[in-house]
Amino acid sequence: MAFNKRVKIKTILELNPIGQEITLMGWVRTKRSNKNVSFIALNDGSIITNYQVVADPNLISEEILKKCSTGACLKITGIVVESQGAGQTSELNAKSIEILGEADPEKYPLQPKKHSLEFLRDIAHLRMRTNTFSAVFRVRHALAFAVHKYFNDKGFFYIHTPIVTASDAEGAGETFKVTTFELGNPPRSEDGKIDFKQDFFGRETNLTVSGQLEGELAAMALSEIYTFGPTFRAENSNTTRHLAEFWMIEPEMAFYDAEDNQNLAEDFLKYVIRYALDNCAEDLNFLAQRALEEENTKPADQRSELGLIEKLKFVVENEFVRLTYTEAIDILRNSNQNKKKKFQYLIEEWGADLQSEHERYLVEKHFKKPVILTDYPKQIKAFYMRQNEDGKTVAAMDILFPGIGEIVGGSQREERLDRLTQRMEEMHIPQEELWWYLDTRRFGATPHAGFGLGFERMVLFVTGMGNIRDVIAFPRTPGNAEF
Ligand code: 4AD
Ligand code: MG
Repeated sequence: MAFNKRVKIKTILELNPIGQEITLMGWVRTKRSNKNVSFIALNDGSIITNYQVVADPNLISEEILKKCSTGACLKITGIVVESQGAGQTSELNAKSIEILGEADPEKYPLQPKKHSLEFLRDIAHLRMRTNTFSAVFRVRHALAFAVHKYFNDKGFFYIHTPIVTASDAEGAGETFKVTTFELGNPPRSEDGKIDFKQDFFGRETNLTVSGQLEGELAAMALSEIYTFGPTFRAENSNTTRHLAEFWMIEPEMAFYDAEDNQNLAEDFLKYVIRYALDNCAEDLNFLAQRALEEENTKPADQRSELGLIEKLKFVVENEFVRLTYTEAIDILRNSNQNKKKKFQYLIEEWGADLQSEHERYLVEKHFKKPVILTDYPKQIKAFYMRQNEDGKTVAAMDILFPGIGEIVGGSQREERLDRLTQRMEEMHIPQEELWWYLDTRRFGATPHAGFGLGFERMVLFVTGMGNIRDVIAFPRTPGNAEF
């Protein structure tokens, strides 16, 4: 028999194979023993539920039973029988137990009790063995799968854009440098500057902040594409919403205008959330309970009105509010929050960049719905966004979600070469380096649009977790790259 002839706990619970002999493998969550019997709760990650194994000390040696401690990995063969206990239809009567890997109870950091999320972040190499994190990562998987399914079903093509690039698409200068130079002693040219011509790529390179620019090239050939890959930003923002390494989904569509783009984004977000509701019920119910317990530790006036599942259903079932930046500024300026100077950044004039407190006010207090904000001032947006006829705004859209703030950023793109180069000049973006991007405006240009969804912000929203570090397996944040 091959080693891996095992049955997953998820399958046992689905098939309920009473009377059959099977082999289970997994990690011990808890063990309770008395003189007559030991009960081992085993988990193999296939589902949130532990499976109960009953071990008779007449069949299983004391030495083996002792090693079945929390965290140990076991291979158990036995017969599936009707369960005596409540809450589970069957259990396994062990015939033999093999210890695949011991876990010294004196040293194993995960105990069968509630650990804080902060503590678990410090042992991220083990935290997936908890109910909370295994649930989060199963949901994360389902969401990623739903992303691919959505676009595949719509005839979009998945493009793998480069991770090492020479450009800074967003122009925010928050890039991580990529080099093979010895840091203390890089070659220099005569003027004393570092001579990147001698570097690996013969030029200065960095980790990508977005696959969009390359995505646009692909859309100009395949019509509808998307990317889904890691992106990197060296912004020193230590918030619960920012990672230095995060995953972004960026669809890019030829022949779409701003409104087509908004329609697609809304439909896509709802589809992905609906997919999780339909396919992750057990994990979401567990996470909803967890979120509720956390809510109950907050002061009554700060608790959210809806539970996690209700919140997800609400987003799927209701239309997003669409309004322009200008309309939003009016709402914010006239809000009590602003008049009573309760915003940290007061809204005084048109043109101000919106902070997360303003976004959340609009979504959580004013509209109580997801919001699509459009037509931002050109000064606060990237060079590639299409300029509106008013000369002041661009065809941008940000989608704001309750509890999250900005979850999507996108725009119709400036397809007119003269407008684009004029904007690049104004913003000091070197045209020589982006000659290939400008070529799409020289050869066969067409209106097109796209957006970027921050994948972890979506996972955060769907799982109801409070910190983005808890929805990516090994978070990269300022001061943090341990695992
Ligand atoms: O708004 P952003 O910067 O837009 C772009 O990068 C465009 N190129 C997208 C496009 O039009 N193709 O980022 C898009 C989304 C944000 O709305 C946010 O959800 C997420 O990416 N994001 C981050 N997520 C986690 N940590 C960070 N540091 C993030 N920065 C942006
Ligand atoms: Mg943005």
